[in-house]
Amino acid sequence: MDPAGKTFIVTGAARGIGRAIAQRLAAAGANLALIDLSAADLDGSLEGCRAAGRTARGYAADVAREADVIAAVTRITSDFGRIDGLVNNAGIVRDGLLVKRRDDGAVDRLPLAEWQAVIDVNLTGTFLCTREVAARMVESRTGGVIVNVSSISKAGNAGQTNYSAAKAGVAAMTVVWAKELGRHGIRVGAVAPGFVHTEMLSAMRPAVLEKLAEAVPLRRFARPEEIAEAVACIVAQDYFTGRCLELDGGLRL
Ligand SMILES: NC(=O)c1ccc[n+]([C@@H]2O[C@H](COP(=O)([O-])OP(=O)(O)OC[C@H]3O[C@@H](n4cnc5c(N)ncnc54)[C@H](O)[C@@H]3O)[C@@H](O)[C@H]2O)c1
Repeated sequence: MDPAGKTFIVTGAARGIGRAIAQRLAAAGANLALIDLSAADLDGSLEGCRAAGRTARGYAADVAREADVIAAVTRITSDFGRIDGLVNNAGIVRDGLLVKRRDDGAVDRLPLAEWQAVIDVNLTGTFLCTREVAARMVESRTGGVIVNVSSISKAGNAGQTNYSAAKAGVAAMTVVWAKELGRHGIRVGAVAPGFVHTEMLSAMRPAVLEKLAEAVPLRRFARPEEIAEAVACIVAQDYFTGRCLELDGGLRL
């Protein structure tokens, strides 16, 4: 798909990878509907898109809440007239071991709330946004493209029971939806980044990050713009569907 003149939704677009994706699509000529928890936080990303000469609007929505997603997609449809693309980028981490023995012998358990929060945003959020946008695309018979952001952790990463389960689910849903939506002219792809320089990594200690970077064959983490470039490739490549592009610098967990 040539994104020029088309309308794309990017979730979690206030910063990091989402902002880079929005600005990359704007540079390719797309108009952008940006979603994040707070509309005020979207100002910087909107400015970047408008600097490319495109129309860009911000929408406050929690992708994990069905009513928020339906309301946002309804407003976007009315504001832009059509939706041609969706990038499911919003995501969070709440890392922790499943069980952990303390020095006094007591065993801590990963709280259910930490499991649920990550599943709600990363997995349910991707489901809700795709369901709503795909329904509009099928109704309007215009087709489209959907790109999901998974992660290298989909293979199973220690300390990430919740996140690994969610991102493996995102990768699996990509295949399911490619099979179901292809007949409607809708392609569905995914990117699975390794470690990327964003605020998501800010909770990790610098020494740990340094050690992790050494384990990457390319000896560095990705820049958000490099992930955005891969999303733009999936958008542009009309025979790509049901597959996940791995962007991990060669790192395998
Ligand atoms: N940074 C990495 O190393 C890395 C690696 C692999 C995959 N990813 C994935 O890339 C995506 C973007 O990550 P990032 O590093 O840019 O993270 P980030 O924390 O910098 O940005 C995430 C954005 O999503 C928004 N968000 C969070 N919960 C939301 C919700 N419920 N509804 C709407 N918006 C919400 C946040 O407000 C924020 O603007 C995520 O899906 C993440 O899992 C990141």
